[in-house]
Amino acid sequence: MQLGRYGFTVIRYARGTTLGIPSGLTENEGSELATIAAGKDVLEIGSWYGYSTIRMARTASAVVAVDWHRGDEHAGYGGSLMIFWRNLVKHGAADRTLPFIGRTVDALPRLADHQFDLVFIDGLHTYDAVRSDVELSLPKLKPGGTLAFHDYGRPDFGVTQAVDELVAKTSASIRVVDSLAVLKLTTSTH
Ligand SMILES: C[S@@+](CC[C@H](N)C(=O)[O-])C[C@H]1O[C@@H](n2cnc3c(N)ncnc32)[C@H](O)[C@@H]1O
Repeated sequence: MQLGRYGFTVIRYARGTTLGIPSGLTENEGSELATIAAGKDVLEIGSWYGYSTIRMARTASAVVAVDWHRGDEHAGYGGSLMIFWRNLVKHGAADRTLPFIGRTVDALPRLADHQFDLVFIDGLHTYDAVRSDVELSLPKLKPGGTLAFHDYGRPDFGVTQAVDELVAKTSASIRVVDSLAVLKLTTSTH
């Protein structure tokens, strides 16, 4: 895999994608995100170099993309903001993306009282971090909206436990595409 300017930290986590942007997402997962985002108002947690952001923004009404752009213990540490934005411009996604740069715990409470059709959670993958991202996101999700998580089913991360607990608590339906879990919430969760 040619990583060029992306540097060595991404090798552990990322694969090459059809857009030439490193990401942990498979092509199936990217296509699924594009499908469920179509025409929707989307909140993304964890954008990194912009692959998932672009796949969704190309079909969505708009994507608010929250990331502190400093990396993490799974994706590798390092700044991603400049390359993220360059990728969005290059792939025609900049006009429908609103980047929000900051930690989720700081950024989400500062989002106005707006609710989204779809929230895609792909930030830090520890159990505590995913739980926190879920708690911060639920008030931002429209009743009956969709929540999607990356890296579900991977034993090395805490995503599965956090998602399974949420499904049990909310009776959401769950569908899995590769390691993308897509939850459809039936009622208001807040
Ligand atoms: C797995 S990567 C996202 C991958 C991306 N969705 C893609 O398509 O390739 C995780 C991202 O979450 C961000 N992140 C980790 N912890 C965060 C936090 N507490 N607040 C905001 N962003 C965070 C990292 O900076 C990193 O860019």
